[in-house]
Amino acid sequence: MNKNFYVTSPIYYVNDKPHIGHAYTSLACDIMARFKKLDGYQVRFLTGTDEHGQKVEKSAIKAGTDPQSFTDEVSKSFRGLIETMNYTPDDFIRTTEARHKKAAQYFWQKLEQNGYIYKDKYAGWYAVRDEAYYAENELIDGKAPTGAEVEWTEEESYFFKLSAFQDRLLEFYEQNPEFIAPQTRRNEVISFVRGGKEYQAGALKDLSISRNSFSWGVQVPNDESHVMYVWLDALTNYLSALGYPDKTDLLENFWPADLHLVGKDILRFHAVYWPAFLMAADLALPKKIFAHGWWTNEGQKISKSLGNVIDPLQLVEEYGLDAVRYFLMRQVQFGSDGNYEAASLLRLYNSDLANNFGNLAQRSLSMIKKNCNNQIPAAGKLDESGQNLLDTAYQLITKLRTLIDAQDFSNYLSEVIKLSALANEYIDSAAPWTLKKTDPAQMQTVLYVIAETVRVIASYLTPVIPDATSKILNILNIKEVSLTDITAQKLTAGTELNELVIAFPKLEEN
Ligand code: ME8
Ligand code: MG
Repeated sequence: MNKNFYVTSPIYYVNDKPHIGHAYTSLACDIMARFKKLDGYQVRFLTGTDEHGQKVEKSAIKAGTDPQSFTDEVSKSFRGLIETMNYTPDDFIRTTEARHKKAAQYFWQKLEQNGYIYKDKYAGWYAVRDEAYYAENELIDGKAPTGAEVEWTEEESYFFKLSAFQDRLLEFYEQNPEFIAPQTRRNEVISFVRGGKEYQAGALKDLSISRNSFSWGVQVPNDESHVMYVWLDALTNYLSALGYPDKTDLLENFWPADLHLVGKDILRFHAVYWPAFLMAADLALPKKIFAHGWWTNEGQKISKSLGNVIDPLQLVEEYGLDAVRYFLMRQVQFGSDGNYEAASLLRLYNSDLANNFGNLAQRSLSMIKKNCNNQIPAAGKLDESGQNLLDTAYQLITKLRTLIDAQDFSNYLSEVIKLSALANEYIDSAAPWTLKKTDPAQMQTVLYVIAETVRVIASYLTPVIPDATSKILNILNIKEVSLTDITAQKLTAGTELNELVIAFPKLEEN
């Protein structure tokens, strides 16, 4: 079995500072990366910034500075987000780096050598905000379907023969039903590529891949007057960060990527253009593109002009990192649109974490401290309900692996919280506080079962809320979680507990 796993986030435009949407995609990547690492994979998690193009150039001009210093600054704030959110990327790529420009130019030359690039004249609509070309009949009230302003653009341009890939793409989607997720998005892409009714313009018209009316971009090889279309430049980042075109170990081990995680706004670029470029360059295609949904703020579209952009740094400051990471992954099914509401964040955190798992950990560990000399008690002879609970806990890993592979984070969490609820029921009905007098050996058994279940639950929650779980696992003297064999780190009798701390302080709901 292939034990390598390469997951990527989009590289974000540095026209503005990061908001909750950027935090969301990278968080999902981080959970994939953390889970796979704990599950014995060699993992590569890539993120970074997309720094070329008109949109960034315009923002730099507006800020009264040159694009390079501007992108240096804004790129830093995306690095800052990694710290704040405790993401664990293995690399951070900037498209202004030499390694990237070299790769992008090499990639271009491959497309050219293989006969897929020609020069012509582009005349059509361009939306700077989306960095995308639109056909006349895609416009709605004179704007892009996304609502972005479009401008009429006529310039000499290089073209990529996208039209030549229609059949190959459709065949590929057919043969790889898992390539685009969720399914509804896959259907949209297929109908787009087929040139269905709503895309009469002929979706797979050849694609303009260079611009000559501005210069903030990667220069087209052998033509100083053109820079590459920012999307061709940007998509190549997934390769350039592995050392492409050099035949590095990274490239050998991690290409093709296992998972490109993106928002639904940029699915077309990843599921249509990118595979076509890769086919044209004779490179293997990524295994999966997952397009998640869109966040709104208290029911409203998030936008700068509405002044309701959610700053992840502020959220973390206000509610703590664990609550924020938990909420984002638990609130909605990954793939569906989500609505940020402070009230739901507080409710979910309190009910699932503070009151459910937090309470379980708190009361069982403090009972051990008081009644078992602060040491993990002996399991003794397990009763049937205790054995059942442990079996359920251990067996859950199989289901969790499936859910992770489907990027079904909300169900992953609800499964783990269900386990915690079962453990709470077990402790309530076993009532160790009564057994203390009537059957101290059985009290020890019950507390062992609970402590061990707490360890397992904390291990399962580690990819999502690593800060809180490390506090609990530290009490239990577990330094490093492993999920490859969940029974390998069973608690052993006599282990001294470290100082008890509250991992999930209750947040006030108003
Ligand atoms: O598109 N809800 O960069 P970008 C959910 N540079 N996710 C959101 C969101 C929201 N309201 N807003 C943003 C680009 N996102 C290109 C990518 S990749 C080779 C190049 C997230 O800065 C989501 O992942 O506009 C979306 O796809 C991405 O940010 C767009 O970031
Ligand atoms: Mg965008």
